[in-house]
Amino acid sequence: MNIAIIGGTGTVGTPLLTWLSRSGAHVTALARTPDSARRVRAAGGTPLLGDLDDGEAIGRLIADADSVLLLTANTPGQLDQEIRVIDVNASTRRAPVVKVSVPAASADSPLAIARTHHAAEEHLRGCGVDHMIVRPGWFMQNLHLVAERAGRTGVLALPIGDGPIAAVDARDIAHVCGVLLTEPSRFAGRDLHVVGAQDVTGTSMAAALSRAAGHDLSFRDISRQEFQRSLVEDGHGEDLVDDLGFLYDVVIRNGFLAGPNDSVHEITGRSALTFPSFAQEHTEWFA
Ligand SMILES: NC(=O)c1ccc[n+]([C@@H]2O[C@H](COP(=O)([O-])OP(=O)(O)OC[C@H]3O[C@@H](n4cnc5c(N)ncnc54)[C@H](OP(=O)(O)O)[C@@H]3O)[C@@H](O)[C@H]2O)c1
Repeated sequence: MNIAIIGGTGTVGTPLLTWLSRSGAHVTALARTPDSARRVRAAGGTPLLGDLDDGEAIGRLIADADSVLLLTANTPGQLDQEIRVIDVNASTRRAPVVKVSVPAASADSPLAIARTHHAAEEHLRGCGVDHMIVRPGWFMQNLHLVAERAGRTGVLALPIGDGPIAAVDARDIAHVCGVLLTEPSRFAGRDLHVVGAQDVTGTSMAAALSRAAGHDLSFRDISRQEFQRSLVEDGHGEDLVDDLGFLYDVVIRNGFLAGPNDSVHEITGRSALTFPSFAQEHTEWFA
């Protein structure tokens, strides 16, 4: 089976390439730099050098694909890039598409990311190609944004109060995408909300990270402004700070990302990874 991957060197894409290669699929992943190509090879895939802004490269990527992963980064060009992939596929190969979206994507969402994903989904639905939508919850790996600061200060500072989150390990999202890409006819047309099997809070995450690392990390609720300032100071996502501020201070604080489910187990046959196991495996992030 030939699988084409867009986003294969990212948080979800890297473990996905490893999983697919082990499953025996032949995986080709778009790689925009020689370093990305090296990472694709290291994860067991075949790189195709090219950029999402280049329709010809996308055409070559999906020329013999039996299914396509559409996962793009949250950048200002995201919608154009997704539409380009959808259109090239619809006018050539018409392979089933697994699109990674967000929960509650809608045209009138206050979150730009959710409006962008909604518009891409509408375009995908309109092209008449088989597709599946994966709506992951909040990735545990998002803590990378604040991990260095937390390790340095001993404080996990987020504007989320005691808002519960059905956090999901991105490796479970990779596993889910792997199953959908290798069994597209089983899941065609499905819209899957994929979250973890337990809610966590800032306090419970700090406690699990403290236990894993063997040193004290406490949780502190901060204002949206302080959070956004710290992100900019630490060199993260200038173009995303508005969305991230709203996401943490409103969406998460008010429990809108709460509510675990059994989707990982239903789709993959394996239990969802837990936050304590994530904490054990990522102590170096918080050192
Ligand atoms: N984080 C969350 O909690 C969460 C929850 C729900 C949904 N999502 C969605 O998940 C997606 C992000 O997934 P992720 O965290 O795995 O992504 P990521 O780590 O940011 O990786 C982005 C991938 O896209 C590639 N890429 C970026 N620009 C490119 C271009 N111009 N041409 C070719 N490749 C390009 C990157 O390649 P390089 O390695 O070369 O940079 C990388 O492989 C977003 O759409 C987001 O909305 C995230």
